[in-house]
Amino acid sequence: MRTKFYITTPIYYVNDVPHIGHAYTTVAADILARYNRLKGQEVFFLTGTDEHGQKVDKAAQDKGHTPKEHADSMVENFKNLWKRLNISYDAFIRTTDNEHKKVVQELLQKLYDKSEIVKRTYSGWYCTPDERFWTEKEVKDEKCPDCGRPVEHIEEENYFFLMSKYQDDLLRYIKNTAYILPETRRNEVLGFLENSTLGDLCISRPKHRLSWGIPLPFDDHFVTYVWFDALVNYYSATRYLASQKDWWPPDHHLIGKDILTTHAVYWSAMLMALGLDLPKNIFAHGWWTVEGKKMSKSLGNVVDPFAIADKYGCDSFRYFLFREVPFGLDGDFSEQAIIKRINTDLANDLGNLLSRSLAMIEKYRNGAIPSPIESKDRDDLEKRIKTWFTDPLTSIKITYDRFLKKLEFHHALAQLWVVINEINEYIQHTEPWKEKDPGILSNILYILSEALRHLAVYLFPFMPSTAEKIWQQLNVGRDLSEINFDTETQWGILKPGTTIRKGTALFPRIEKV
Ligand code: ME8
Repeated sequence: MRTKFYITTPIYYVNDVPHIGHAYTTVAADILARYNRLKGQEVFFLTGTDEHGQKVDKAAQDKGHTPKEHADSMVENFKNLWKRLNISYDAFIRTTDNEHKKVVQELLQKLYDKSEIVKRTYSGWYCTPDERFWTEKEVKDEKCPDCGRPVEHIEEENYFFLMSKYQDDLLRYIKNTAYILPETRRNEVLGFLENSTLGDLCISRPKHRLSWGIPLPFDDHFVTYVWFDALVNYYSATRYLASQKDWWPPDHHLIGKDILTTHAVYWSAMLMALGLDLPKNIFAHGWWTVEGKKMSKSLGNVVDPFAIADKYGCDSFRYFLFREVPFGLDGDFSEQAIIKRINTDLANDLGNLLSRSLAMIEKYRNGAIPSPIESKDRDDLEKRIKTWFTDPLTSIKITYDRFLKKLEFHHALAQLWVVINEINEYIQHTEPWKEKDPGILSNILYILSEALRHLAVYLFPFMPSTAEKIWQQLNVGRDLSEINFDTETQWGILKPGTTIRKGTALFPRIEKV
């Protein structure tokens, strides 16, 4: 029976255009979605946009548009980027979808009826750009402790979700499970829950201050706080964007470390109050800086993923993001670093391996993949290469799966490159161009072709078009995105006699920026 795999990205604000950070989380989700599809799982990969609230309202006003007009135009930037980066999402949610709004109202009503939401007078500090309340203790010199901008003192009636009563349950759950990963982030949340008193969460905004939001179903003078509305997307999508299957709960919420509290604390408490299962995992990855500096509009160093994909290719960009930095740690982007990866790992190691292997098949076997000889492996290197693909305990199939289950993308890639380099070494060592024995030469060429076919399968989740190119040049003849991972990772299924279709170089070297 097919099992289910449900993965989400944050829904991104449409106040601005997408940047490298948005691309990062979304490509990570795409890698896992593609891998799980190959494994035969039924996958639901959700992404989308967060369209209500102050930020979007303000961005629209600045342009002289209504918030909805603004969102309608901005959403296209995200959809176009996902197309450009080959993102295979199954559903795209917009928080302005009527169906989403209905679910938000339904859940609010449910919490209100259970007295989990109550009306109170709030008096304290408010940061308008961050849309956050702060306590007296947190604010110094009337500045927002988060963004440093001035806060205003307000006193008004609002609705509160009684989040504080979930503090102990949250603490216990997070302590005893792998719910929050990586470990450092989990400890951060535990530290926060252990050392501070969790407050209740203000989930409304009076309409006179902000009208761009979902009206509270029980009080028309208020709209819903944008985070309450946004977090519900993960659940509401399962109610109207998915197949009939019961998709709740997700396997992974992938998020950046900036939004850990809203997910690990607010969202988890909301789900507990609603009596819904918690997601199986929330993984908070690290932060990209650019040449050592925080990315910001004012510094003018925001990395445009369209430009990088156009200049270096979509797959080089995807590869770089996941090879360069362990998922979970912070990373630094620079064009020098991506060029280095392209020239060494991609052009030299992988690209050359394909082109020299296929060139030899053309030259020595008229372009037809030869039959392997059935005899024992000739030397240690040959044995080692086959072991990488066939050993029931130590093959890359086992380690690759283990790494991807732990979201250790960089380890999965590093492991593949160990294998790629050993295959290159094998060519150097066996020197097929000097081989006189036709049987031995056929064997070497078959091993190279079969190893490359396997590599295409393993590379597919990370670099789908590169993998397709390898697959097509080997003329395997099946649609790579439709194959079954376990079937295709068996040694010896490449048909001898297949005519290869050598193409252009996978990754031309880049001489200078
Ligand atoms: O926070 N490095 O949306 P957002 C790595 N709408 N990842 C980064 C990054 C960086 N420098 N900058 C952004 C929101 N990200 C809310 C989310 S979810 C219910 C609501 C990525 O447009 C990372 O995934 O500000 C981060 O969590 C997300 O973009 C924030 O996107």
